[in-house]
Amino acid sequence: MDFLGIKLDGRVVLAPMAGVTDSPFRILARRWGAAMVYTELASSEAMIRDSARTRKLMEFLPEERPVGIQIFGANPEAMAVAAAEAESLNPDLLDINFGCPAKKVVRGGSGAAVLQDLDLLRRIVARVTGRVGLPVTVKIRSGWDSESIVAVEAARIAEGEGARAVTVHARTRAMGFGGSADWDMIRRVRESVGIPVIGNGDVREPADAAGMLDKTGCDLVMIGRAALGRPWLLGAAQHYIDSGETKDEPSNEERVRVCLEHYDLALRLNGERRAVLEMRKHIGWYLKGMPGASRVKQAVFHETDPGRVRKMLGEYRDGLNEKKGFIN
Ligand SMILES: Cc1cc2nc3c(=O)[nH]c(=O)nc-3n(C[C@H](O)[C@H](O)[C@H](O)COP(=O)(O)O)c2cc1C
Repeated sequence: MDFLGIKLDGRVVLAPMAGVTDSPFRILARRWGAAMVYTELASSEAMIRDSARTRKLMEFLPEERPVGIQIFGANPEAMAVAAAEAESLNPDLLDINFGCPAKKVVRGGSGAAVLQDLDLLRRIVARVTGRVGLPVTVKIRSGWDSESIVAVEAARIAEGEGARAVTVHARTRAMGFGGSADWDMIRRVRESVGIPVIGNGDVREPADAAGMLDKTGCDLVMIGRAALGRPWLLGAAQHYIDSGETKDEPSNEERVRVCLEHYDLALRLNGERRAVLEMRKHIGWYLKGMPGASRVKQAVFHETDPGRVRKMLGEYRDGLNEKKGFIN
């Protein structure tokens, strides 16, 4: 399908997740059927202070396309500078984060805090769309808290200033990641703007993705947490949307195989030191609920040599295959 002039091969996209959706994970998600991926949020202020490091966060490989770069900040001019920097990397779109609830982000007036000042939101979107030729999109929450639900107004303002699509994570900032997403808010935004809407929040299983499209009329579905240790979920969700059928989940052995594939990508792209540390959390997610997983995780979490980690995972996988296995 066509989305803002970008050719997408489905309607299910991977959510940007700081500390998670780096290049290795994005590549894996695309291999497993994500229609589009996003970089982790990058600070526009940091771009001015330490541009090399922030630029690194925005970089991606050709095989990740279509890919969006996401930036955040509270200063319209700094946002325009960051947007221009992002544009020089030639992503498929540029997304502005107006949803991050993290204290260190909202304290500086950025992320979800901008939802408390819709005039600032207007100025940020205007400056960014005025600066770059790329499609600019915004990602919002429902509002700051239940007393200030502004998604419809924020989306309309963004549209008026040239945003080409809006992602709605249907929670307030006050909810953090708790409670449940209010999909009706996505429907209301969908009915209030002419630009495409990406629905987000609590899509956990393939059928949820189809349910969200159905109930809200949104154009694309974005999946975050449910894809941790489960990158195949995106393709499975697309398959469900296309056919109404649920694919079998990969076997435990296959899951470890994907984990090893992820490990190798991380080693190759992030370097040994970073890969060993960062892959620990991913290994925890991949192995969640598997027989004997806690023992392997304990061992892996104390190991700093990637060769030995790979060996442990390989042995664990082979043990899963033999009936006697690795049972605790
Ligand atoms: C670990 C983590 C990091 C996140 N980082 C970002 C981010 O960098 N940018 C962003 O827009 N949203 C971020 N989010 C929010 C997700 O993109 C998404 O909106 C949210 O998790 C709700 O979707 P889900 O219910 O499918 O997880 C993050 C979420 C998590 C769990």
